[in-house]
Amino acid sequence: MCQAVDTEAANEGGSGPPAAKPNAEWLGPGMTDIQMMVNGEAHTVRVSPTRRLVDILRDDLRLTGTKIGCDIGRCGACTVLMDGRPVNACLVMAYQVSHRDVLTIEGLGGPGPGLHPLQEAFLEAGGFQCGYCTPGMILAVKALLDEHPQPTEEQVREALAGNLCRCTGYAGVWRAIRMTVAKMERSAPPEHT
Ligand code: FES
Ligand code: FES
Repeated sequence: MCQAVDTEAANEGGSGPPAAKPNAEWLGPGMTDIQMMVNGEAHTVRVSPTRRLVDILRDDLRLTGTKIGCDIGRCGACTVLMDGRPVNACLVMAYQVSHRDVLTIEGLGGPGPGLHPLQEAFLEAGGFQCGYCTPGMILAVKALLDEHPQPTEEQVREALAGNLCRCTGYAGVWRAIRMTVAKMERSAPPEHT
């Protein structure tokens, strides 16, 4: 990583290595209080506005269910819902999440210890192996089913296009989605004609 170096001091100071000196421009606008809702709870974090959401969740709030895979927005392991829409938390900066509503895998089941029907279906259908992609996958599917309770195959493919699984493949994931959709259909109140 590049470091700002005070070249004047370096030129004056003899033969030792130049002393690194922070410079205000390089450090950016400084620490800021960012307020956000996470899993239904209000949080204020004092961070640099460019701190990544995934680091706030994992390191500052200790919500380590959100995983880091590629770190560059390609794998979907870090998917969380922001105002109900799936986002890659490794690409969202703190200032972008100010006063927004974030849902992570830890907030999905509650209140109480029960699992969300999608989590149960992933377990039942064997929708994961190592589980690393699973939190992001489940949240991506949740966003899909919230919008389309009976999704077409194309809608499922599109919803999962950004979530890569490296070890299980997608057969179990598809089974889990079908099971959840069927369960939702059965529990829907009958339509009156
Ligand atoms: S870690 Fe964010 S998309 Fe891969
Ligand atoms: S279950 Fe291992 S990466 Fe998907």
